[in-house]
Amino acid sequence: MSDSEQRQLHVPYREYNSHNSTNPATLVETDALVDLSVTPNSNVILANGQPLDLLPEVEFAPSLSVDQTTAIDSPGTDRESQPLLGRLELDVTYNRFPDDPQFSELVWQAECAIDNGIFPQRIYQGSSGSYFVKNPAGKIIGVFKPKDEEPYGRLNPKWTKWMHKLCCPCCFGRSCLIPNQGYLSEAGASLVDRKLGLGVVPNTRVVKLVSKTFNYVRIDREKARMKQAILDQFPAVASHFNRIGLPPKIGSFQLFVDGYKDADYWLRRWESEPPPPHLAKQFQLQFERLVVLDYIIRNTDRGNDNWLIKYSPGSPKNGTEGEVKIAAIDNGLAFPFKHPDSWRAYPYHWAWLSQAKLPFSETTRELVLPQLSDHNFVQDLCDDLYLLFKQDKGFDRHHYDKQMSVMRGQILNLQQALKDSKSPVQLVQMPAVIVEKAKGNGAPRLFSFSDTFTQRFQNKSPFFSWC
Ligand SMILES: Nc1ncnc2c1ncn2[C@@H]1O[C@H](COP(=O)(O)OP(=O)(O)OP(=O)(O)O)[C@@H](O)[C@H]1O
Ligand SMILES: [Mg+2]
Repeated sequence: MSDSEQRQLHVPYREYNSHNSTNPATLVETDALVDLSVTPNSNVILANGQPLDLLPEVEFAPSLSVDQTTAIDSPGTDRESQPLLGRLELDVTYNRFPDDPQFSELVWQAECAIDNGIFPQRIYQGSSGSYFVKNPAGKIIGVFKPKDEEPYGRLNPKWTKWMHKLCCPCCFGRSCLIPNQGYLSEAGASLVDRKLGLGVVPNTRVVKLVSKTFNYVRIDREKARMKQAILDQFPAVASHFNRIGLPPKIGSFQLFVDGYKDADYWLRRWESEPPPPHLAKQFQLQFERLVVLDYIIRNTDRGNDNWLIKYSPGSPKNGTEGEVKIAAIDNGLAFPFKHPDSWRAYPYHWAWLSQAKLPFSETTRELVLPQLSDHNFVQDLCDDLYLLFKQDKGFDRHHYDKQMSVMRGQILNLQQALKDSKSPVQLVQMPAVIVEKAKGNGAPRLFSFSDTFTQRFQNKSPFFSWC
């Protein structure tokens, strides 16, 4: 290899295998959609041709309070007789997260609001079709980014991106990223944040929503109007339609955080009015968590407008200590399948801040190092991302493996930097590493502790290192 060194590592690796699986519910890959509402007892045929007789497990979350369960189970509005904004096409398993009842409730609130005519509102400053989603009281509760309205998505409503794509097709997008999967990157960042316990990414998951304020092609709007007219005149005929209304959109749904401002705002203010030492320390710890997140997911878009800070200085007179918190938003341009190379570097803009010059704290080291050093933890993280990413129609296993190779390389560097008490600035100067599974390891296995990974250093330096 001309521009790279190679070295062998022995680390565990788990592989999905549709044959001989002992736990089909978690390990079998299948494209079969289980529609609980229509065929509750039908046998599902798996990708390997074998029938899956098991009914899907519906878990009841025991930790739910009576109030919470009532809120989720009782619609508040009569769902069945609501104007059908495409609901029939929604798979019942979508928008419901058994492991996260609070998030399910939040999305449920958004759906109720839409049913009651309180529609998501486009965020005008962004480069894509992103929407503030409200609850039935009209309060903003989330940010929804539909896949097909992403910067280079089919229905991106912003003419600047359209011109960009038209006039300069050879350099649109980021060559190291899988195009039009920003919504998965948003949800993936939240997954990494949750798994590591960082607490800087507002909870984000993949949901399907439908609203007339989203950007649709004219034919979809016409079709929905025509079907509605048929439903009004001939309900019996309309009962044969699969869907009445606009098609639901898949996208990322992120919890809206209140009281935060663009990081730039507070960073500038603090130049003239620095925060008290205890809050500066609190900020430093939060900042390190942002660094850990961005580095692991190899975020290519972390400008100071893509993270938010909430700051209240407190008042010694009133006995309030104050608080500072970071929210890492706009994580749609992460999880590259190769390191940025010959054209643009996409640096982490926080690397220029004074906080980045201090070595990682003991607190951060204790939080993340044991997890990152645990091969099973890293493998679990990859598995969870697999389950998330594979729901995209364009999912490609080969690309996913490459994304994980980059992520494993990042984790390896971060681990070393934490052990050596390096600073974030020193971390970003470490040579980019790729950790990939060595080829020719034999037939696919379910799980093996002896698979070999190859570690490669990428020595090619970017052409433009400032952008
Ligand atoms: N979770 C959130 N909580 C609070 N405010 C948010 C949240 N997400 C986004 N915002 C606000 O909306 C603005 C636009 O969001 P975001 O940057 O994610 O959108 P975008 O369409 O991807 O834009 P671009 O890619 O051009 O930066 C942010 O600058 C921020 O003010
Ligand atoms: Mg942004």
